[in-house]
Amino acid sequence: MIIKKAQFLMSNTEVAKCPSANLPEYAFIGRSNVGKSSLINMITNNKKLAKTSNKPGKTQLINHFLINDEWYLVDLPGYGYAKTSRQLRNIWAGFIKKYLTQRENIVCIFVLIDARHEPQQIDLDFMYKLTMNQLPFSIVFTKADKLSKTRLAKNIEKYINKMLEIWDVAPEYFITSSTTTQGRLELLEYIEKLNNSDVSNDLKSKVY
Ligand code: GTP
Ligand code: MG
Repeated sequence: MIIKKAQFLMSNTEVAKCPSANLPEYAFIGRSNVGKSSLINMITNNKKLAKTSNKPGKTQLINHFLINDEWYLVDLPGYGYAKTSRQLRNIWAGFIKKYLTQRENIVCIFVLIDARHEPQQIDLDFMYKLTMNQLPFSIVFTKADKLSKTRLAKNIEKYINKMLEIWDVAPEYFITSSTTTQGRLELLEYIEKLNNSDVSNDLKSKVY
């Protein structure tokens, strides 16, 4: 897929105020500072589209971007920079949970995981909650440029094996770097495939 147009639409905290739910939507979520906003800029090839920062906690709202007039990309606030489950509880109790569980047109939630780290309980708990709520997700490993090829492969293998202790099947996953653009084409191809799936086509014929 070629990105011809990427525009910021709006920021808010309420599902009811989000743009019309008749286009396929993809949400990026993960720990603060994992690289969600950077990945949105990398995918759309526009460094200024989503606001990034080297300090955690930059994105505070639900931010909708309209891509090629055909689908939505959503930048969300991150959860717990500190590894406390209280922070996950807060985010799961607040507007993010409402958004994830009530927004009808979400086709896939991309859970971003920093490829450098050991599997973190907070991310596993978050994905477990998604599964329990029957919300479809895929994993995007970020910051691949910060690791050697060998180390990267080892970390990914470890992560997937950890997931297979809980899940029967490993999720779809992508290895990316916003610095080198690694993984961009794979992600766009995947989104294009989902945009053309029955789930997305049903959305387009619905009237909201
Ligand atoms: P919050 O909005 O605070 O939740 O953070 P975020 O997940 O949106 O992270 P953001 O995109 O703002 O990036 C955080 C920091 O990581 C910034 O300093 C980015 O430049 C850096 N960063 C993000 N992605 C990459 C990457 O792929 N490679 C490298 N080397 N740095 C990255
Ligand atoms: Mg952000």
